[in-house]
Order: sequence, then C-alpha cells, then structure tokens
Amino acid sequence: MIETLFYIGLTGATLVFAAIVILPVFFGAPWHPTSLRRVRQILDFAGVEPGQKIYDLGSGDGRVLIIAARQYGMTGVGLEIDPIKAWISRHVVKFFGVQDRVQIVRRSFFDYDFSDADVLFIYLSHQALDRLLPAMRERLKPEVKIICYGFCLRSLEPTKVNADKTIFVYQLHKGTRLNAYS
Ligand SMILES: C[S@@+](CC[C@H](N)C(=O)[O-])C[C@H]1O[C@@H](n2cnc3c(N)ncnc32)[C@H](O)[C@@H]1O
Repeated sequence: MIETLFYIGLTGATLVFAAIVILPVFFGAPWHPTSLRRVRQILDFAGVEPGQKIYDLGSGDGRVLIIAARQYGMTGVGLEIDPIKAWISRHVVKFFGVQDRVQIVRRSFFDYDFSDADVLFIYLSHQALDRLLPAMRERLKPEVKIICYGFCLRSLEPTKVNADKTIFVYQLHKGTRLNAYS
C-alpha cells in the first residue's frame, strides 16, 4: 500500500515537474527564474520609470512584475504559457497585494498583442527571440524599451549593455544595426 502511494506520488510529482519545467521548452524557453537581486539590477540598469507599463514575456512566477510594481511604481502584465506557473503566480501577486497593478495572462506571447507596452522584459532563448522579433517590431511603440536578459536580440544593436554582457537594452528608434553580442 505504502509503495503504491509512493509511486503514485512520484509519478504525479514527475508530471508536474515536466509541465512546469520541460514543456515550456517546446514553446519558447524553459523555466529559469531570474534572481531577485538581478531583477532589481536589471530594472535599475534599464532606467525604468514609475507609471510605465511593463510586460514580462514568459513571466514564470511573476517576480519581475511584482518587484516592478512594488519597488518601481510600474504596472505590469505577465504572459505565461504554463497553466501551473500562471496559476501560482496569480496567487503570488495577490500575496504581495499588487493585483490592482499586475495581471497574469495564461497565453503564449506569440499570440498576444502587447503593443501598449512601455517596457518589455524578455528572458528567453535566442530561438524564441529570433521568432518573436519580426512580429513584435511591427506592433510596438517606437519609444518602447526592450530589456533582454541572458540572450540578446541577434539582429539589433543594443543601446546599452552591462559590463558582463547579460543585460541588453534596446530602443527601436535609436538604431537597427547588426550587433556584436550573439
Ligand atoms: C527563463 S524563464 C523566465 C521567467 C521570468 N521571466 C523570470 O525572469 O524569472 C522563461 C519562461 O517563459 C515561459 N514561456 C516559454 N514559452 C512561452 C510562450 N510561448 N509564451 C508564454 N510563456 C512562455 C516559460 O514557461 C518560463 O516560465
């Protein structure tokens, strides 16, 4: 009996793990949360401003948006394809009392109109970025600030790059030359 329960639990845990971590790989990127300290460094480096609307494309547990709302006075929308992370992050948003400023949408960023963004935060693989950029360039405000963490947009010259070349900030109207960080 104990063995049966153990293996049912183990199978369930494995399926949940697969759903949270592995399945999103097929849609754009695996889950690898940005550390809280790093989130603050990124938002400081990018020079975000209170009142701006930030989208996190693949918002994971919602941490980027929660910090943006609580500490930077921003409003945010998180697009997360994984129903389990979307569900969990909605509760985390409520726990931190920012549900009036942060919305989590269970949707693929490939199928969502985020043209009202002032700031985009993107921590995704090069493959996902390559697919995303052509579609998103048409729709975004010219003054939008795009923050890429870990991986750069391979066909755009960033306006700002941090010292260890992990944070790339783009402003579309400031240049479209090929960059040297890919
Ligand atoms: C590297 S994690 C980043 C999580 C969060 N932005 C952070 O910095 O902590 C990438 C996230 O994107 C999600 N994701 C992958 N493909 C997606 C898609 N097509 N639409 C929405 N979310 C996606 C994954 O489920 C995962 O949570």
